[in-house]
Amino acid sequence: MKTSVKKCLFPAAGYGTRFLPATKAIPKEMLPILTKPLLQYGVEEARSAGIDTMAIVTGRGKRAIEDHFDRSYELEHQIDGTSKEALMFEIRDIVKNCTISYTRQVEMKGLGHAILTGETLIGDEPFAVILADDLCDNAENEPVLSQMVKLYAQYQCSIVAVEEVPTKDTNKYGIVAGEFITPDIMRVQNMVEKPEPQDAPSNLAIIGRYILTPDIFDIIRDVKPGKGGEIQITDALLEQAKQGRVIAYKFKGKRFDCGSVDGFVEATNYFYAKSNA
Ligand code: UTP
Repeated sequence: MKTSVKKCLFPAAGYGTRFLPATKAIPKEMLPILTKPLLQYGVEEARSAGIDTMAIVTGRGKRAIEDHFDRSYELEHQIDGTSKEALMFEIRDIVKNCTISYTRQVEMKGLGHAILTGETLIGDEPFAVILADDLCDNAENEPVLSQMVKLYAQYQCSIVAVEEVPTKDTNKYGIVAGEFITPDIMRVQNMVEKPEPQDAPSNLAIIGRYILTPDIFDIIRDVKPGKGGEIQITDALLEQAKQGRVIAYKFKGKRFDCGSVDGFVEATNYFYAKSNA
């Protein structure tokens, strides 16, 4: 098995119902913060962690994603040599230098199921997962996934990024508990999907950044539908955690939940202020 992380999986098949009607014909992952779609931020984060193979799990109505990560000859011909060309540098660079492949999730049976759908693109090696609707920014200039890839080199086990959330919000997240081995790193012993505050083992919530070892696929295959009738990645990770093979990492940086309208607006304001600073 490979010992370094060379591929990143992007589950992007969800319906994005919180953004209806915008997401009726536009994938949630293509909604822009300023001028850049959420998914492009995610791909750029993966690249800065040394990853250039992207595996995207799409679904019905998500074709705009494939068009975005492709050449657009007519448009590009129009802007070549104009001041607008600079706006395309980053996406052109991605298209030129990354391998991007796609598979479709036919039934939206949850995040665990979406990750399992990506097995065909990942194979038998450790991989990163980015949920593009969790947008991360880092004040210290080291993107969150890059921090995690470094940790993987040391620990060689699954890693989930976590942050403290208000107790009233535990029912929106997978919540972890365990033993801290450094001030930022916890060996996970327990995980619960979206517990009510009174049942939550802590207020440390998993956000949309993971590094997973490939045995997770066989574990997901055996997971029964959990909360909401969906195949939950948390349930699969709990099996690894019972063997001491999951760490939770309190990442450095800022995260915006762009899957919610409030988080999306907050991210827009933050990135706008930053771009004018
Ligand atoms: P969410 O829980 O945000 O669900 O999924 P959603 O369907 O995208 O959005 P709402 O709640 O209806 O507004 C978290 C991530 O998992 C992916 C989504 O695309 C998102 O990136 N996902 C979820 C899948 O790829 N497949 C699924 O079956 C479920």
